[in-house]
Amino acid sequence: MLPAPWRVRRARRDTRDTFTLDLEPVSVGDSLQFLPGQFNMLYVFGAGEVPISMSGDPAKSGVTTHTVRAVGAVTKAMGRLERGDAIGLRGPFGASWPVEEAAGKDVVIVAGGIGLAPLRPVVYHVLARREKYGRVALLYGARTSGDILYQSELEKWRGRFDLQLEVTVDNVPAGQGWRGHVGVVTSLITGAGFDPAQTVAMVCGPEVMMRFTVTELQKRGMTEEGIFISMERNMKCAVGFCGHCMFGPTFICKDGPVFRFDRIAPWLSKREI
Ligand SMILES: Cc1cc2nc3c(=O)[nH]c(=O)nc-3n(C[C@H](O)[C@H](O)[C@H](O)COP(=O)(O)OP(=O)(O)OC[C@H]3O[C@@H](n4cnc5c(N)ncnc54)[C@H](O)[C@@H]3O)c2cc1C
Ligand code: FES
Repeated sequence: MLPAPWRVRRARRDTRDTFTLDLEPVSVGDSLQFLPGQFNMLYVFGAGEVPISMSGDPAKSGVTTHTVRAVGAVTKAMGRLERGDAIGLRGPFGASWPVEEAAGKDVVIVAGGIGLAPLRPVVYHVLARREKYGRVALLYGARTSGDILYQSELEKWRGRFDLQLEVTVDNVPAGQGWRGHVGVVTSLITGAGFDPAQTVAMVCGPEVMMRFTVTELQKRGMTEEGIFISMERNMKCAVGFCGHCMFGPTFICKDGPVFRFDRIAPWLSKREI
């Protein structure tokens, strides 16, 4: 339960409200192994502790990477951290994306906004074992072109023949150049190449975006059993003690955050208490 001391090895700004931190343990040997989709509790001294997913390559140990959108007190304080600054870390916690279950099948990854961060480890995992998977599509929607995360990496991925990458923006503000697709991310699903009977879909973004994405995937013929989403709720302990993250009969911190859609759907219509 006690956060271990880590420090910022590198801090970089991705967009106007989003940044990425590479963290390293203060004690050599404290390195952390994680599965795609898992999260850490990050503690900013004097501000508080919040759950943040790993966004880096699970195959790389020694450094753990987190991409954070500054929305409130703790994440804004985290955004002011610089190289060498201390941070507390507990983890990894939570269930992973079904990367093993997806082997031999087509994979559709649908990300909205900061939702690309918890899905990036899936992309690394799949690309490192590309021969184990069928067709792979990454569909990503951002608010505007200025909000697109990991731009140089997306450009590299776009150059691959074994990955279908589609990026869309919700709108194009005056003065911003954008020649790509405009529209919500669900509008990319019709053109994605996959066999609905043999596909695992992994979806992360705002709850409303995930609901519409599931509906579109079902229109393409997918069943709920093949669709996985990642849920967010406020957390305190992250280990199933405090009940803060309860969602129906489940704890988001230890039963999730990744859930097969049919297992979480009955409670999705109810708002957080
Ligand atoms: C398992 C898990 C993984 C997460 N991974 C990431 C990640 O990789 N990157 C990232 O940027 N964020 C992630 N989050 C969300 C992050 O934990 C919250 O944004 C953070 O707790 C906000 O804390 P704060 O003190 O900065 O803001 P607060 O002051 O707590 O809140 C500011 C505003 O954000 C809203 N808010 C707070 N928490 C959440 C939440 N969990 N979901 C939606 N809205 C919220 C509040 O209602 C309020 O409007 C994750 C959350 C969970 C549960
Ligand atoms: S955060 Fe305490 S039970 Fe999940």
